[in-house]
Amino acid sequence: MEHKWWHGKIAYQIYPKSFCDSNGDGFGDLQGIISKLDYLHDLGVELLWISPVYPSPFVDQGYDISDYCNIDPVFGDLATFDRLLSEAKKRNIEIIMDLVLNHCSSEHPWFKKACADLNSEEAGYFYFVKGKDGKKPNNLRSYFGGSVWDKIPGHEQEDIYYSHYFAKAQPDLNWNNPKLREEIFKLVNFWIDRGVRGFRIDAILSIVKDLSFPDLPADSANDGMSHAANMNAKLLDRIGPYLNELKERTFNRADCFTVGEVLTVTKESVKEFAGDHGYFSTLFDLSPREVIESHPHYVEFPTMMPDDYARCVFNTQELYQNTDAFVAPIMENHDEPRGVSYYLPDYLRNATGAKCLGTFLMMLRGIPFIYQGQEIGMTNTEFTSPDDFDDLYAKEEIRYCLECGMSIEESLKIVGRHTRDNARTPVLWDDSANAGFTTGKPWLKVHQDYQHLNVKSQLNDPDSVLNHYKKLIALRKDEALSETFTYGKFERLTLQSGVLAYYRVDDHHKVLIIANTNTTPYSYDLSQDKYFKDSEHTQLKLSANEASLNLEQNNLVLGVGGAAIIQLS
Ligand code: NOJ
Repeated sequence: MEHKWWHGKIAYQIYPKSFCDSNGDGFGDLQGIISKLDYLHDLGVELLWISPVYPSPFVDQGYDISDYCNIDPVFGDLATFDRLLSEAKKRNIEIIMDLVLNHCSSEHPWFKKACADLNSEEAGYFYFVKGKDGKKPNNLRSYFGGSVWDKIPGHEQEDIYYSHYFAKAQPDLNWNNPKLREEIFKLVNFWIDRGVRGFRIDAILSIVKDLSFPDLPADSANDGMSHAANMNAKLLDRIGPYLNELKERTFNRADCFTVGEVLTVTKESVKEFAGDHGYFSTLFDLSPREVIESHPHYVEFPTMMPDDYARCVFNTQELYQNTDAFVAPIMENHDEPRGVSYYLPDYLRNATGAKCLGTFLMMLRGIPFIYQGQEIGMTNTEFTSPDDFDDLYAKEEIRYCLECGMSIEESLKIVGRHTRDNARTPVLWDDSANAGFTTGKPWLKVHQDYQHLNVKSQLNDPDSVLNHYKKLIALRKDEALSETFTYGKFERLTLQSGVLAYYRVDDHHKVLIIANTNTTPYSYDLSQDKYFKDSEHTQLKLSANEASLNLEQNNLVLGVGGAAIIQLS
């Protein structure tokens, strides 16, 4: 496999509004990120994905962009961004920007001009489509609920609609239009020329549309509609020309690292989408979310426990195994609740669980992405009133729960468990007011446990989640084992339910990663292990919580939440 500059790197995602506020306005900003670069460097971060910082009305928290080549004043300005780039580079950290190319904001000048004149050039940048038989052009449901079609602002009396697969304020861009594509290439190159080394590409499967806008068979939501994602899946084989052109005209110019938000990856499509000849360097492993979100509403989302989560992760690892593509394993991101609260049973929704799950995740094959706060074991936040939520999706789901006849308490419990706001509450830096995130009024609720769950209290505690993550990263980079952790094969090991285990294997080393999520201790007889040679070669490289290796008896005992990384040969 040809080695690339990003192989073996550790990535970290920043959700800027909630990371660190430097000027007391209650919103995180670029200067706040700069002030924490040493912290990130000490943790071992080398790639920094920053969720959108472009000018935006923030209907969907910056994923609705009104100017692609600037910085929203809430976050700073281009000069501060340049400083962030150079300060990050000094610490060997590369910046990855978020590219939201399926849609812009309804406040973008393109959309405003398009609405003002339906014959303008900009009108061709969007899907303006006539209704069919007095109805909307088709029956697709948007990602945030309701039809993907709405009347064009200013033309409400006419039988013409615009398409938005996400919120109303996020009109879809028409990738069929070569002029629009040129505009897109320009904006991507604008950031490459500034020194950005890569991109995370948002909702990219949605860019292909069938221009006859057919209906799809209604799905299980009983509203006669079909989720827009069903259309994406049908049109997957038409996306190639767009993405190849994007890659050639932009990413390839500067050997960029790119990571796609792509669901529905199959054995057939993985090489097409990721790797040396793929559209992107890598894709996130979103397979657990695919299972959960195959149900239309939060109230129907299934509960995922460690075995279910591990099964998804392992299937993905195997899918990428014989390709030159790396997957990007994640436990959570800004669209998901906290992994510790979501994939672990209640007795492990704490520091023990955070270390256990972190150990499991950080040694997988690929480029691991840590989401801000994951490294200190942040859990879900307690939302006690509908007003505590900010996310438009959460508000829609509260409305839906109440419409279904649930009480406020029941609705809060359901939405509180699944909402993306869990990941968006401010990072907990210390035990001072507002967890040291801001000296002002934070834009979103601060996690209830900030007085003891925070970065400051963990920095000097050798047993903290934070220091455990540092050790995991250091081990991944350990000179003797980094080849194995980067390029070695993944092999699943099936033991008893609740015990998650796999190997990383190459010609030189065999490493076992094992984590016990059960309520009782687990004992593993190493002499039965297929890679165990002898006690002399066996080494406990790292452990979390209760884990003891007895080499005289070739026995490993893991307590509740115990996890271990063992070099077998
Ligand atoms: C995926 C992003 O991660 C999410 O936050 C956003 O709401 C949608 N795409 C729409 O851009």
